[in-house]
Amino acid sequence: MKSDNLEASFASGINPLVQDFLTRDAASVAGVEKLRFYPLVVESGTGTILTEPGGRKLLDFSSSWTAGGLGYGNPTVTKAIIEAATNPPGFGGISAIHPDLIKFAELLISIVPGESDRRVYIGVTGSDANDVVLRACKVNTGKSRVITFENSYHGGVGFAMGVSGVHVGTNATAADGAVFIPYPDPFRPHLGNITDSVADSLQRIKSEFEVGDVACLIMEPIQSDGGLIVPPAGFIKAVANLCKDFDVLFICDEVKVGLGRTGMLHAFQRDDVVPDIVTFGKMLGGGLPLSAAVGPARILDGPVGSALLTAAGNPICVAAGIAALEVIVSQDLSNQAEKAGKKLRKIFSEKVIELDISDVVGDVRGHGLAIGIDLVTDPDSKNRNSELARKSVYRAWELGVVIYYVGTNVLEITPPLTIQDHEIEQGIGLIAQAIADAKAGLVTDEMVAAFTGW
Ligand SMILES: Cc1ncc(COP(=O)(O)O)c(C=O)c1O
Repeated sequence: MKSDNLEASFASGINPLVQDFLTRDAASVAGVEKLRFYPLVVESGTGTILTEPGGRKLLDFSSSWTAGGLGYGNPTVTKAIIEAATNPPGFGGISAIHPDLIKFAELLISIVPGESDRRVYIGVTGSDANDVVLRACKVNTGKSRVITFENSYHGGVGFAMGVSGVHVGTNATAADGAVFIPYPDPFRPHLGNITDSVADSLQRIKSEFEVGDVACLIMEPIQSDGGLIVPPAGFIKAVANLCKDFDVLFICDEVKVGLGRTGMLHAFQRDDVVPDIVTFGKMLGGGLPLSAAVGPARILDGPVGSALLTAAGNPICVAAGIAALEVIVSQDLSNQAEKAGKKLRKIFSEKVIELDISDVVGDVRGHGLAIGIDLVTDPDSKNRNSELARKSVYRAWELGVVIYYVGTNVLEITPPLTIQDHEIEQGIGLIAQAIADAKAGLVTDEMVAAFTGW
């Protein structure tokens, strides 16, 4: 994809080819799996670029909610997929061992720190990895309660959904035994200031541990779908230490921001902790459905056969996973994410001044290429400007960039870790322009009315 063709192909409006897909989508694909922000229809992708029917190019700064973290059509991953699909050794791993199944598990054990006797659950999507380990923790400790966080996201089905604060109260009821703790938010601390908020969250966790019967605590190192909230340095470590003191298993959910995105291979490394269990998904499969959990044998080895998914260990997905891990490590994508994130934030801060949007950009936060732009109604109240977020992502799509919002008002910037410098410049410039245009009223209520988002 030649970058100089990009500008010419940015044009707003819904073309008739796109409209046809929208009409057919409404009449055929189930609403339960829709999270739509604007009329996005794409036919193909290369690197950071997605192409709409008719040929319009879009810069994807979401990377399919991070599943496309290696870019679309990554050559190493594509080669591995084609080779594995040519003569596949069956299509699953639950009743037949195949060499890549073992290689993938061994590779994960080698790159995830932890105790010596560990096993790897190989699954299909982040939700099942979390679901399976949560159940395994309960069964194998004989304890029934799970500590989780308000506004967390650990899955879209089953037990994992029931411990996801984002879903509970809207799309799901709380799982049996789930206890929700406030996740400390430095920008909007739940107790007025962040020091008291951190102390409160830790005290609440400790109190629950003292009550007892807690099997595990599950935590995102950055709360992404809840609003790209970065906890203060030291908070994850303090939580992990509490877990250790009370013999509670600490599960770190790296599904969304793990594998290099935050500038380190594992996001939990930023706080220098070693979780008992780590879960992965999204980018793990290089775009194919693949998830994993790495944890102690005493938790993940039994009961034998208690988590059976036919497609788990599918050799094509696993081959893609091996290739993805090799690319992430050999190309040092963590470092690339760190550098790209710094560049992106620098350009954005210049654009905020140039386009006079500092009154609605309340906060820009994150690590590496996991960045949130928090839109506010005014800098003093810090009230969430959900309407502006909704209209900004719509306008960004019109201008040629794919981004979504989280936590109702935070633009989530998570482009592929392989993003090129000129794409960063172009994309973040357009995102700033989109905020300015939305602020100026270029996106009407009617335009966004059909898109409910979260
Ligand atoms: C932190 C986190 N964990 C788990 C999941 C669930 O992953 P999946 O949707 O791939 O099942 C998500 C999805 O957004 C997530 O953000």
